[in-house]
Amino acid sequence: MDNLLAILSDGMYHSGEDLGKKLGISRAAVWKKIKKIKTLGVFLESKKGCGYRIVGGLDLLSKKQIYDNLTPNAKSLLTKLQTLTTTASTNTLARQYAEKFDASGWVILAEEQQEGRGRRGKSWVSPYGCNLYLSIVWGFSGGVKEIEGLSLAIGVSILRGLKICGAENIQLKWPNDLMYQKKKIGGILLEIVGDPSGYCQVIIGIGINVNMPEDFSKSINKPWTNANKLLNPEVGRNKLAGVLIDQLLLLLESYKKIGFLSYKNEWLAHDAFIGKRVELIMMNNTIDGIVQGVDNSGALILKVNGITKTFSGGEISLRECE
Ligand code: BTN
Repeated sequence: MDNLLAILSDGMYHSGEDLGKKLGISRAAVWKKIKKIKTLGVFLESKKGCGYRIVGGLDLLSKKQIYDNLTPNAKSLLTKLQTLTTTASTNTLARQYAEKFDASGWVILAEEQQEGRGRRGKSWVSPYGCNLYLSIVWGFSGGVKEIEGLSLAIGVSILRGLKICGAENIQLKWPNDLMYQKKKIGGILLEIVGDPSGYCQVIIGIGINVNMPEDFSKSINKPWTNANKLLNPEVGRNKLAGVLIDQLLLLLESYKKIGFLSYKNEWLAHDAFIGKRVELIMMNNTIDGIVQGVDNSGALILKVNGITKTFSGGEISLRECE
């Protein structure tokens, strides 16, 4: 199916006969593959006398192009790069790898996730061929205390990457959502495998809405937007993926030494909610307060009834009060 998708990605018509010839398969076999492609939700059109085309074409992930967009330093930190057509969740797969191997430096991307996962047990809408779904595994020898504030620092790195690609005015919503004009453009899901007080591998899952069709609005219950309307016109998914992976590998490599403190001011400069009244939604209750920023560990500082309190990560999320 991948070869057929690669041919059809140009958005032009290809006859069944031509496709069969190019792939060295019968027309019946082409038809079978076409049916499979339709299940991905791609807008595939067939026209008598012309053949098949994918309307608007596809900007498919290419391992080579992603790799070519990495700096030499990041290339030296990358130990495996995998691009998949489909998977349940790149984080789930990365987790399985980390449970079996020392997978530090492995990067996995998928065109589609069938069971994409978000924070707080939510699902992450992950249709084929239009967004970025990527997971990176990184090993830390000093356990969870070495990764304090990491999820916020990752938000800063992604923001930097988006800026390199032309997207200005992205903001951060604690702990680690990427926002543009109050709409979510991307999210981060951090998971840990191994010994929380010794060697552990962190799975960093990143989802960026790049070019998601409007139809998906009905399955997403919060305001969202696409990065591609902010990116420089020549930036496709491969360039964006390369730049983000580059930023992230460099961050991960140095984090043990430099920690969140090196990212704190930049995080605060892009805080979407600073000074705003918010509701902090926790497992069993909700707290009202005014955002004061974050502390040196990345914990949220809230003024609650005049008293300053801090809250750290996990299953907490923020909502702005109207
Ligand atoms: C959130 O904001 O709720 C976090 C979203 C994280 C989504 C990414 S997409 C790649 C990786 N695989 C997953 O299943 N989830 C993360």
